[in-house]
Amino acid sequence: MIRLQALLFLTCLISLVLIPAPAIAAILGIDFGQSTTKAALVAPGVSFEIVLTRDSKRKDVSGVAFNGEERLYGSAAAGIAPRAPTTAFLHFKSLLGRSVSSLEAETYMAQHPGVDLTPSGNRSTVSFKTPDSSFPIEEILGMSISHLKTLGEEMLPKSSATSRIYDVAITVPPYFDSVQRKAIIDAAEIAGVRVTALVHDGVATAINYASSRSFNQEKQYHFILDMGAGSTSATLVSFQEIQEGGSRFGKSSLNITIEGVGFDQDLGGDLLDQRIYEVLLARFTAAHGDGILSSPRSLVRLHKEAERVKTILSANTEVISSMESLYDDIDFRTIVSRAEFEDAIQDVLPRVAKPFEDALQAANLDILDIKSVILMGGTTRVPIFQQVLVKDVLKGDATKVSRSVNADEAAVMGATFRGVSVSKQFKTKEISVLDPSIWEYDVVVSGSDGTFTGAQTLFPKGSPVIGNRSLVELQIPEDLDEATLEFREDGRQLYTYGLHSIQESKKKILDANNCSDLILVIDAELTVSRVFDVHGVLWQCNVTAPAVSDAKDDAETEDFKQKVFNFFKGEKSSSPEASTSTSETTTATEEPAEEQTESETTTASTSTTSKRPQATVPPAKPRLVKQPVKYNVRYNGARNMGRATKASSKARLRAFDKLDSDRHARDAVRNDVESYSYRIREWIGYENRRLMEHSSEEERQTFLRKAEAALEWLYDEGESMILDKLEEKMKELKEFENIIFKREMEKLASIEAELRASASAAAAEESAEVNGEEELVIPADGPEEGAAEASVSTGATTTTLAETFEESSTADAEPGETELPQHDEL
Ligand SMILES: *[C@@H]1O[C@H](CO)[C@@H](O)[C@H](O)[C@H]1NC(C)=O
Ligand SMILES: *[C@@H]1O[C@H](CO)[C@@H](O)[C@H](O)[C@H]1NC(C)=O
Ligand SMILES: *[C@@H]1O[C@H](CO)[C@@H](O)[C@H](O)[C@H]1NC(C)=O
Ligand SMILES: *[C@@H]1O[C@H](CO)[C@@H](O)[C@H](O)[C@H]1NC(C)=O
Ligand SMILES: *[C@@H]1O[C@H](CO)[C@@H](O)[C@H](O)[C@H]1NC(C)=O
Repeated sequence: MIRLQALLFLTCLISLVLIPAPAIAAILGIDFGQSTTKAALVAPGVSFEIVLTRDSKRKDVSGVAFNGEERLYGSAAAGIAPRAPTTAFLHFKSLLGRSVSSLEAETYMAQHPGVDLTPSGNRSTVSFKTPDSSFPIEEILGMSISHLKTLGEEMLPKSSATSRIYDVAITVPPYFDSVQRKAIIDAAEIAGVRVTALVHDGVATAINYASSRSFNQEKQYHFILDMGAGSTSATLVSFQEIQEGGSRFGKSSLNITIEGVGFDQDLGGDLLDQRIYEVLLARFTAAHGDGILSSPRSLVRLHKEAERVKTILSANTEVISSMESLYDDIDFRTIVSRAEFEDAIQDVLPRVAKPFEDALQAANLDILDIKSVILMGGTTRVPIFQQVLVKDVLKGDATKVSRSVNADEAAVMGATFRGVSVSKQFKTKEISVLDPSIWEYDVVVSGSDGTFTGAQTLFPKGSPVIGNRSLVELQIPEDLDEATLEFREDGRQLYTYGLHSIQESKKKILDANNCSDLILVIDAELTVSRVFDVHGVLWQCNVTAPAVSDAKDDAETEDFKQKVFNFFKGEKSSSPEASTSTSETTTATEEPAEEQTESETTTASTSTTSKRPQATVPPAKPRLVKQPVKYNVRYNGARNMGRATKASSKARLRAFDKLDSDRHARDAVRNDVESYSYRIREWIGYENRRLMEHSSEEERQTFLRKAEAALEWLYDEGESMILDKLEEKMKELKEFENIIFKREMEKLASIEAELRASASAAAAEESAEVNGEEELVIPADGPEEGAAEASVSTGATTTTLAETFEESSTADAEPGETELPQHDEL
C-alpha cells in the first residue's frame, strides 16, 4: 500500500515533468447560486475581473429560457417567464441530482407554476419538459455555463495566445452530495469545460476574506453565514499564519481550516418569497375567488411580485404592491408591512441558530471563541434575520456581526482564486486550505447467502479532501462467491454493487501468478471536489521475483526504471477499469485487465533481464498484480448521466450553438442590408457629389428602386429569411458603389499618371531641397487599398467604403484633409 502511494506520488512528479507546458490557460470562477450567478476570470492580462452580462451587469439571474429555438439567459430568461412559463427554467439549482419525486421537485413545482418536470430517461433525475422536447437539467445548466464561457472568452485580450476557456471552478453548498456534485461536473463537461474544483461557498468566502488581510500565528476563528435564495450554511473557519522553519524571517503562509459546518437546506430567500406569495395570493382569492389558481401566468407574476416585495421590505417598513390586470382584467393593489411579513415567517426564525450550533459542536468550540460572523448572501439583508442572529446566536453581542466582505462577489472571487491555486497554472499567494470531509463514506457488505454482513469505512469523516484514490482492503469470508456492496455517503445509499464469481477471479490470479499476500480491494476515490466514486473491486497480490543483491547501484537505478515503467503500465490499466465502472453497462469485463496483468508480468521481466544479461537479476521487490472482480451496479435513486447521454447532450448543445451563430450571422447581414439600403437612398436623395459625377440619372434611379425593394423585402419576410438570400441581396446593392468606385479609380489613375510625369520633370530640374509632396504619396497608396476593399462585397467592409462617401459630403468644411477634396482641386 505504501509503495503504491509512493508510485502515485511519483506519478504526479513525472506527469508534471512530462506533460508539455500548455499555452497559459484561463480560469473562470463561477458562483452558481439558486437565484443569481456570477463569474470572474483570471487569464494572462486579466486579473480577477467580473464577467459582465450582455447588459453590463455584474450578476445575472440563474436560468435559461427558450423563445422558440432561441435561448435566453439570465435576466432575459426571467423577463420572458411570465409570458412563457413553460419554457423558462429559473432558480433550478436545488433540483440538481434530485429525482422527480423528491421533495425538492415538489417545492420547485409549487414555486414555479407552469414548469413541467419529467424523469430523465431511466435515471429518475429531473428533465424540463417543453411542448416539443425535454431537457435534462444537466443540459440546461450546461447551456448556462457555456454562455458564461462565451462571455468570458470575449474578455480575453485579443493579443493573448489564450482564446479559449477550458477550466472552471464552481461554488457548491457544503451539503451537496456526490450525485448533486457530479451533476454540476457533468453539466460543465457538456459545456466543454473541465471542473478544476468545486469549491464550498464558505471556503470561497474565507479565501476572499483572507486574501486581503493578515493574521498571526494564533488561530483566529470566524463564522461565515451564507444565506442565499435556496439555503443557509454556517461555516466555522480558522485562519492561522504559518512561519516556515519557525523563523521570524522565514517564508510565511496562511492556513485556512474549515473547522465545522452546519446548514439548513431550505432556509433561504425563496422560502420567504413563498410566504409573501401566499399572503398576496390569499388576499387576492379572498377578494376575487380562486379562478387565478388555474392561470400559471398570473401566478408567475404574483411570484415575481413577492420577490420584489421582500427586497423592498429589507429597507422599508411598508410596500405598496400594485399589479395591473393580474387575472381576468382585475387590477390588484395591496399594502404589505414589514410586521406582516415577519409574522408570516415567525416559524422560520428559530431555524437560524441551528447551523451555528452544529458547526460549533463539530469543532468543539463555543460561540465566545468566535471573533466575527461574516455575512454573505442576499438573505442576510433581511432585518429580522440579523436581529435573530444577534439575539439567538451571538448572545446579544452585535459587534461581532461583520459586513466586511462584499456579500455579492466574495464567493466568486474566492472560488476563482481556489481554481487558480488548484490548477497551479499561475503563481498565487501561499494559502493552504484544509476543508475536511464532513461525512463518512462506507460500504455495507453482505453475502448473498445471508450468512455474512459487515460495514467498513472507506473514507472517514474528517478525511482531508485532497483527491484521495485508495485501494481499501475488503474483509469478506474466504469462500464467499457472491456479495452485495452497498456504498453509502453519510449513511445514505449511493449505489449497490452485486459482486459475482468472486472465487473464479481469485483462481485466475492465483493460476497466472506466484502470488503472495492475496487480498480483495475496493478501488475508491474521494476527489478534491468531494465526489465519491468507486472504480471497481479487484484481487491484488505481490509477485516476488528471485533476488540477488550484487550490484547495488545498478540495481537501484534499474529498480527506479522499473517503478517508472510500472507506473506507466499502471496508469494505462487503470483507465479501462474506471470506464467499466462509470459506464452504464452492468458487467465489468475482465479481458482487458487480464491482458494487462499478463503483459505487465512478461514485459517487466524481459526488461529487467534483457538490459543486463550477464549481470544478475534485479532485487526482489514485490510487484503488484491485479484481477478485477465481475459486478453489476444498481441505483435506487437519482443517478448521474452516463457517457452516452452526456455525448448526446453535448451534440444537442452544439446544434443549438450552431442555430445561434447562424442567427447572429443572419441578423448581422440583415442589419447591413437595411442600413445600406437607407444609405443608398440618402446618397441619391442628397445628390452626393461623387455619385453625381460618376453615374447617370438612370443608374441612380435603378439603384434607388433596388434599395426601396430591399427594404420592403426585409419588412415583409421578417425574421424568416435565410443567410444566402441576404448575402445575395447585399451583393446586388453593393454593385452600384463598386461601379462608382471603379470609375473614380480610373480617373484617379489617369490623374496620377499626369502627376508622375510632371513630378519627374520637376525633379529633374531641382535636384535637391524639395520636400516630398503629399500629392505624390496619397494617390499612389489610395487606389490599391481601396481596390482590395472594394473586391470584398459583403458584410464587414460596407462601412469603409460607405464612410468614404460620407466624408465627401462633410469634407467641404475641411479641405486638404482627405483624398477627395484634393482630387476635386486638381
Ligand atoms: C438506461 O437507459 C440507457 C439509455 O437510454 C441504457 O443504455 C441503459 O442500459 C439503461 N439502464 C438501465 C439500468 O436500464
Ligand atoms: C498548514 O497546512 C498544511 C497543509 O494543509 C499542513 O501540512 C500543516 O500541518 C498546517 N499547519 C498547521 C500548523 O496546522
Ligand atoms: C486516503 O484514504 C485512505 C483510505 O481511507 C486512507 O487510509 C489514507 O490515509 C488517505 N490518505 C490521505 C492522504 O488522506
Ligand atoms: C514463488 O515465490 C516464492 C516466494 O514468495 C519463492 O520461494 C518461490 O520460489 C516462487 N516460485 C516460483 C515458481 O517462482
Ligand atoms: C505486497 O508487498 C508490500 C511490501 O512488502 C506490502 O506492504 C503489501 O501488503 C503486500 N501485499 C499487497 C497485496 O499489496
